[in-house]
Amino acid sequence: VLAGALMIAWLLCLLPRATAAAVRRSDFPPSFLFGTATSSYQIEGAYLEGNKSLSNWDVFSHVPGRIEDGSTGDVADDHYHRYEDDIELMHSLGTNAYRFSISWARILPRGRFGEVNPAGIAFYNRLIDSLLLKGIEPFVTLSHYDIPQELEDRYGAWLGGAEARRDFGHLADVCFAAFGDRVRHWATFNEPNVAVTRGYMLGTYPPGRCSRSCARGNSDAEPYVAAHNVVLAHAAAVQIYKTKYQSKQKGLIGIVMSTVWFVPLTDAPADRLATERALAFDVPWFLDPIIYGDYPPEMRRLLGSRLPTFSPEERRTLGYGLDFIGINHYTTLYARDCMISPGYCPSGQEFHQSLAAYTGERDGIPIGPPTAMPTFYVVPDGIEKMVTYIMNRYSNLPMFITENGYAQGGDGYTTRAEDWLDDQGRIQYLEGYLAKLAKVISDGADVRGYFIWSLIDNFEWLYGYTLRFGLHYVDYQTQERKPKSSALWYKRFLQSSLEAQ
Ligand code: NOJ
Repeated sequence: VLAGALMIAWLLCLLPRATAAAVRRSDFPPSFLFGTATSSYQIEGAYLEGNKSLSNWDVFSHVPGRIEDGSTGDVADDHYHRYEDDIELMHSLGTNAYRFSISWARILPRGRFGEVNPAGIAFYNRLIDSLLLKGIEPFVTLSHYDIPQELEDRYGAWLGGAEARRDFGHLADVCFAAFGDRVRHWATFNEPNVAVTRGYMLGTYPPGRCSRSCARGNSDAEPYVAAHNVVLAHAAAVQIYKTKYQSKQKGLIGIVMSTVWFVPLTDAPADRLATERALAFDVPWFLDPIIYGDYPPEMRRLLGSRLPTFSPEERRTLGYGLDFIGINHYTTLYARDCMISPGYCPSGQEFHQSLAAYTGERDGIPIGPPTAMPTFYVVPDGIEKMVTYIMNRYSNLPMFITENGYAQGGDGYTTRAEDWLDDQGRIQYLEGYLAKLAKVISDGADVRGYFIWSLIDNFEWLYGYTLRFGLHYVDYQTQERKPKSSALWYKRFLQSSLEAQ
């Protein structure tokens, strides 16, 4: 019995080492940023404190039926009051960077139509200073889906043309002036491809407008107009940074895209073409104009005049480009054609207006192990393929993996903290993706950092608190945070370079 017990104990000791050996900190460059990511609406709470105004998400989440568990971000993780504790968690992980976003409604409660809010500035100053004291680099997103509701009401947010662009430029200017002496990495937007698709095409995110099959039936062109304004708002912010701040502050500015890798469902040429369309309608929709000055030819061919055009002056502003590409990557899906075989696509699964449909399964077999987030599967190869695609399309501009992570939860999942804490699935996911990331970097990709979504469990948009992405479990009754096994794994991984020396 004793021998058996010793054998098991020995095996258990080996287990974390054996997995850690698969990928090590030392497989990445020494200057590489390793961090965790969050966003303002998902963690801050304090939705009516410190003179903050209501954001579009405050209003949207309060509409009955919008969020799966009827919850809101009113309190969320109460990070607004507990940010010091959360920085301790980062410090104990051993991370050297932290990606967070600024609540626009805290900094400029009325956009350009009111004053800068000193309490909002003070909060982010405290956060940034406390991070730096612990040796953690702030990596700041200016708008992670949330905007002041007043701007939505006044001019329809991203349908608001020059008004919207001017407001975003103003936010950027205020933030660069207030925080730019200490922030070296700025992202203008988080996942504008998701925000625009869901906000103006599918109607599931604010402002809840939808085209095509949706009852409110706005025009097919509307999502492309919204995207156009976001692209130009990005350009306005970059122009301000590059002309007023960069030479002194010496930071970098980029944008963060949601990236799904697509593979053809079958070998049929139609599915291969559909896969190319699905890819082009997603990331290049924003990055081609920002980097090359116009929308992808794949989109222009199909959408014609539904896609706006850039005036010569707008093109000049676009010329400010960006310094890095932020890549949020979680999953790979199959793409199939519905241009040549329209009957082939189940309705509602058309990817953007690309006449490609997506699916996670072939002949009933999932593309990889499923996670609790529908449409997120574990396909580590995808990160290598996606980075390679972006590297080739954009001449290996500097890249950061600004999000990668794994969801627990969903229907009928446990309510017991112990079950959430032992998150072996997340460890396997992260190890698999990190190993592929190390490989693509060794093949020459200029990736400079990696952020796990997320530091703590938080408000997962339409899923409310039913899905948990955190390295730390949050008890929403007490706001207590507890490290999951994956937090200990990340800490050990980050220490592995020291062990290697
Ligand atoms: C991407 C988004 O940026 C983030 O807000 C979200 O929580 C994660 N993906 C997980 O779905």
